[in-house]
Amino acid sequence: MSAFARRDGVLHAESVSLIDIARQFGTPCWVYSRQALEAALEEFQRELLGFDALVCYAVKANSNLAVLDVFARRGAGFDIVSGGELRRVLAAGANPQQIVFSGVGKSTAEMELALTTGILCFNVESAAELERLDMVARGLGKTAPVSLRVNPDVDAGTHPYISTGLKENKFGVAYQDARALYRQAARLPNLRVTGIDCHIGSQLLDPAPFAEALDKILALLDELAADGIVLHHIDLGGGLGIRYRDEEPPTVHAYLQPMLEKIGQRRLQILVEPGRRLVGNAGVLLTRVEYLKTGDAKNFAIVDAAMNDLARPALYGSWHDIVPVVSGPATSIPWEIVGPVCESGDFLGRGRELALADGDLLAILSAGAYGMVMSSNYNSRPRAAEVMVDGSAVHLVRRREEIEELYALERRLP
Ligand code: LLP
Repeated sequence: MSAFARRDGVLHAESVSLIDIARQFGTPCWVYSRQALEAALEEFQRELLGFDALVCYAVKANSNLAVLDVFARRGAGFDIVSGGELRRVLAAGANPQQIVFSGVGKSTAEMELALTTGILCFNVESAAELERLDMVARGLGKTAPVSLRVNPDVDAGTHPYISTGLKENKFGVAYQDARALYRQAARLPNLRVTGIDCHIGSQLLDPAPFAEALDKILALLDELAADGIVLHHIDLGGGLGIRYRDEEPPTVHAYLQPMLEKIGQRRLQILVEPGRRLVGNAGVLLTRVEYLKTGDAKNFAIVDAAMNDLARPALYGSWHDIVPVVSGPATSIPWEIVGPVCESGDFLGRGRELALADGDLLAILSAGAYGMVMSSNYNSRPRAAEVMVDGSAVHLVRRREEIEELYALERRLP
């Protein structure tokens, strides 16, 4: 059963009415369900039972400490992409030996922090980064565990902005260069080659490209073994899609099973880096209608959330279902659901058939992933509050920002 369901016509998060949450914490407000987070993680862990495997949650999807805490308590590891994310997961109680560090632009300071923390692995994305990491590790008298992120040049068939596994993308090392680069890595004295990884894109709805990428990675693994380079783990990346509207994403079973079969008897630890699939449908953005403005061409419902809160519709043209918190019998007309930000691109949904009145509460669904983390203070709008529901309890897990905080770091001229 979904963690967000109606009771007597009112949308609830687990046992808590969204009307009560709006009353208590105001709007806009992000609402997460602990139960949904745990269920999503469990689906991966169940599938990987019996394997030497680790689910490394991709922190970038939603980095609230409470979300990280829920996952850490359930034994998840973490995939981070910055020193900031590293500090966050440590603050949430992560085990350093369950942290992998991805990203094309790790700075020296970030490498130092990760080396002194003692993370599981650096997912290295270029020859230049290999050299830098070796040098930084030498400076600290340490050995850096490394995996190369190999770009398998497969088409993930997803939005061009979130497709990462093609030759023309900035990510990873080119497939044909990987073998030579591994040999180079094995020669560098302060690196220890431990794994291989690959991430081909996000919101994938077809398991085939994952399997295609894995075939290439496994072929490379055999070549490396012939060179005397034996790897300890394989990291399959993230990217499994969710339902926003009417998509039919594969089950975790249908996604993982073919890959687990291919990996077969190889003695490899298996890592996965899901982000969206663990948090996307575990969160909604709660917003209130400020004004209704009907017209010849369009009807606008101006709500108190905006593109600075949820950027995905403006940025990618993404669809998020938008539903009234209180369902009623009134007749629907099409509405442009827009925010107060001064841009025509500031929309959350277009042409939505809804029966609306001033002051109505709306829930923007599937907003748990790449929502709050991509929000900004554009138009000097404070970031919204975040709450987590756990059964009948509601915890404020990030309070709403205060206006003064928005310019607290700024100074007038002397
Ligand atoms: N691992 C790596 C190396 C990644 O770059 C990503 C996401 C993930 C794992 C997690 O992917 P997921 O399982 O969440 O698909 N802002 C975009 C999505 C950007 C994804 C970036 N990388 C959006 O709102 O759709």
